[in-house]
Amino acid sequence: MPTPKIVVTRKLPDPVEERLKSLFTVALNPQDVPFSKDKLVRAMVQADGVLCAVGDNFDAEVLEAGKASHAKILANFGVGTNHIDLETADDLGITVTNTPEVLDDATADIAMALILATTRRMHMHESRLRRGDWAGFDLVSGLGTSLRGKTLGVIGMGRIGTALAHRAFLGFGMNVLYFNRSKVLVPSLPEARAAESIEAVMAHADVISLHVPGHPENRHLINAKRIALMKPSAHLVNTARGDVMDEPALIKALQSGAIAGAGLDVYEAEPVVPDALKALENVTLLPHIGSATHEARIAMGMRAVDNLVAFFDKKVPPHQVV
Ligand code: 8YV
Repeated sequence: MPTPKIVVTRKLPDPVEERLKSLFTVALNPQDVPFSKDKLVRAMVQADGVLCAVGDNFDAEVLEAGKASHAKILANFGVGTNHIDLETADDLGITVTNTPEVLDDATADIAMALILATTRRMHMHESRLRRGDWAGFDLVSGLGTSLRGKTLGVIGMGRIGTALAHRAFLGFGMNVLYFNRSKVLVPSLPEARAAESIEAVMAHADVISLHVPGHPENRHLINAKRIALMKPSAHLVNTARGDVMDEPALIKALQSGAIAGAGLDVYEAEPVVPDALKALENVTLLPHIGSATHEARIAMGMRAVDNLVAFFDKKVPPHQVV
C-alpha cells in the first residue's frame, strides 16, 4: 500500500509535524489559515485521512463529499468532537478519533484560574490599573470572595471535572458538590457530594463550573431558568463548550447583577465574542485556551498521530469515537 496521504487542517506543534512527516505523505498548513468548507471537502476527496481540530465543521455535506473517495479517518486534535457529525460519519464508515486524558490537567488548571479570576475580580482590577485608574492602595473597595469553605458545583464529573474538584478541595479548601447525568463514584475524592439535579447544584454552589461535552442534548443546558436559581453572590465558569450555556441569558444575568460574575473560555459562535460580554467588568474572557500548554498540545498531537498509525496498520485506534 502506498504511504497514506494525510491532510492537516491546522499548524501543529513542530515535534508532531516532524513525526507525521516521518510516517505519512503529509499536506501541512504552515500558515495556519483555517480551512473553508470547500477546502474541507477537497481534503475529504483527496486524502486518506484528515487531522483536524475544533472549528473544522465536518457536517453531513462535507462528509458525504468524501463518500466515494479517500478520507476514511478523521483524527481530531482535541477531545471534543461536536464539530463533526458523528452519526453521518458512522453511517459512511468514516472512523473518528480524539485525544482524551492528556489535556485534563491543562483544562482543569484553566478552570481553576477562571474561578480565581472571577471571584477575585481580576479582570476589573487589571483593566482599571492598565488604564491608569489606580489612585493607590485602599482597604475596602473592589473586594472579592474567598474560596475556603465555599462550595464548588461541578456539572459533568468526568475526568476534567474531577481534576478540577481535586484542585478546589485539596488546594483551596472548597467543598465539592457535583451533578453527573449517569451515576459516577469518585473514589479519589470521597468528600465530593453528588447532587440529585442540576438545579440543586445551581442553587447551592458558590462557584459553578461546566464540564459536560458539547452535544445537541447539552445545548443550553444552562438556561435562563437555571441561571435564575443561582445565588446573587455566585459565579459561573465555562471551559466546556459555548453552546452548553445560553449566552444571551448569561449576559442578562451579569448585566443585572443577578449573579456576581463569570469566567469563560468558550463561546457560542467562536471566534465571535458578543460585544455585550466584552463590555462587562464582571466577566473574565479567555480565547479557548483550555489545553493551550506546550505539554498538552504536543501530547494531544502525538495521540492523534497514534490513532492514525493504528488505523493504517488496520488496528482499532486507541481513541476511536465512532
Ligand atoms: C482543544 C478542546 O484545544 O480538546 C478539546 O475539545 O476544546 C480544546 O482544549 C481544541 O479542541 C483543539 O482542537
